Amino acid sequence: MNTEAVIIPTKNTPLPHNDKKVLLEAMKYRYATKKFDPAKKISEEDFETLLEAARLSPTSFGMEPWKILVIQNPEIRKEMIPYGWGAKAGLEGASHFVVFLANKRKDITFGSPYVDHMLKDIHQVPPEVYDFYSKVYSCFGKEDMKILDSERSAFDWTSKQAYIVMANMMTMAAYMGIDSCPLEGYIPDEMTRILGEERKLFDTDHYGIAVMAAFGYRAETPHRDKSRKPLSESVEWVK
Ligand SMILES: Cc1cc2nc3c(=O)[nH]c(=O)nc-3n(C[C@H](O)[C@H](O)[C@H](O)COP(=O)(O)O)c2cc1C
Repeated sequence: MNTEAVIIPTKNTPLPHNDKKVLLEAMKYRYATKKFDPAKKISEEDFETLLEAARLSPTSFGMEPWKILVIQNPEIRKEMIPYGWGAKAGLEGASHFVVFLANKRKDITFGSPYVDHMLKDIHQVPPEVYDFYSKVYSCFGKEDMKILDSERSAFDWTSKQAYIVMANMMTMAAYMGIDSCPLEGYIPDEMTRILGEERKLFDTDHYGIAVMAAFGYRAETPHRDKSRKPLSESVEWVK
């Protein structure tokens, strides 16, 4: 797995095997794990696969406005527990604890060093595509979706991209028999203070905390079966 390659061959990728059952079974196997076995660690190779699933995630305009902190330091995890009422089990027992960061407004504004880096170094767009972006992306941000209206609207947009990344990591994990729990049960201001301002693990001028997730192995039988609305309540066909 070449996790450093910027260009990932896609054009000639063979059609994946079409075993729907395997992936659906994995999605049923996944549940929001409430108790992790602290003795069971995800191997380096397996976690790298989860990170590659993160990297392959789609993002709007391909801006990848996210970053991951993998918090393995027990002291830092302990410090986070009082401010993570829904994250306690993950912080205490999960093999890997992930904080998803999302970029702030200044980074996703056209002309910023970040947008230039994405377009020029990563996507290697030719000048005419860069010009196209300058019009379409700016219009998208300012007029259509109004993402750039406020710090909040910009961060909400970048956070949405981070959630897609988290979802893909959790699905990949389930496919590999690895458990996970998505986490919003924490106080963002306190977590930002600990991880950003005090520990300097991220630059608070450029990033905020979007969401968190714990990955590891269950130390329990799921406490209940899944319950979901029938699709007839969630889907309406327009023909
Ligand atoms: C964005 C998001 C945040 C969540 N936050 C928490 C959390 O802080 N703590 C927790 O134990 N579960 C959390 N959950 C788990 C949900 O409660 C769970 O996914 C839902 O009840 C469905 O159950 P299942 O995932 O086991 O199928 C979260 C789920 C999502 C998608």
